[in-house]
Amino acid sequence: MNLIILGPPGAGKGTQAQLLERDRGFIQLSTGDMLRAAQGTELGKKAKAIMDRGELVPDDVMVQIIANKLDEIGDRPFILDGFPRTQGQAEALDALLSKKHKQLGHVIQFKINDKILVQRVVGRFTCASCGEGYHDTLKRPKVENVCDRCGATEFTRRSDDNEQAMRARLAAYHTQTAPLIDYYDGRSFLRVVDGSADFETVRAQIASILDGN
Ligand code: AP5
Repeated sequence: MNLIILGPPGAGKGTQAQLLERDRGFIQLSTGDMLRAAQGTELGKKAKAIMDRGELVPDDVMVQIIANKLDEIGDRPFILDGFPRTQGQAEALDALLSKKHKQLGHVIQFKINDKILVQRVVGRFTCASCGEGYHDTLKRPKVENVCDRCGATEFTRRSDDNEQAMRARLAAYHTQTAPLIDYYDGRSFLRVVDGSADFETVRAQIASILDGN
């Protein structure tokens, strides 16, 4: 079964996709991570300027990245985290999936109030080695400055995780991405979770959807 996780910046999409990757063998396809990983390239440099402003990278670039990834992963089940983000991307994804004989199981929407999101994003940091996500107050490593997952001691912060860029990211979400809720709801595989709940409650809500309860 393949999934889309749909929700605003800071809703917890990446956190839960990482858990699903570990718990259930999905591959997390995060378009934001892919763009950040390309930072040494011409594409990565252009994308970084757009990302730092909190705007969206053009559809044709994003669709090509996802098309290549879907070829790379073969038949393994995947979670799309951060894609699609526009009507154009959603339509292109439909065409890609049909061409590659792949299907979507669920589109899981994270519902959450904007006020919580700014706090979550501005306090976020990530293990530079394995990518495990943390937060200054909501999720600190168990041992100070040591990653719980891999033991590394270097952490990074994203250049778009500041209040100004976050306001632009939220505006992009509401105008360009939120309309996809209706797009998928009309096709009846949209499921909603409460993204403002604590980590384990969100995890349990998703498990219940995947287990068909
Ligand atoms: P991207 O990297 O996708 O960022 P985003 O959508 O803004 O989402 P985030 O990664 O900020 O949040 P998240 O929902 O994954 O939350 P997380 O789990 O980390 O995109 C970045 C940029 O790339 C875009 O702005 C755009 O420019 C470009 N881009 C990417 N894809 C694109 C596309 N398809 N088209 C065009 N442009 C594209 O959690 C956040 C924090 O909260 C963490 O600190 C975490 O520990 C904490 N937290 C998580 N869950 C909980 C919980 N339940 N309770 C308490 N704290 C929690």
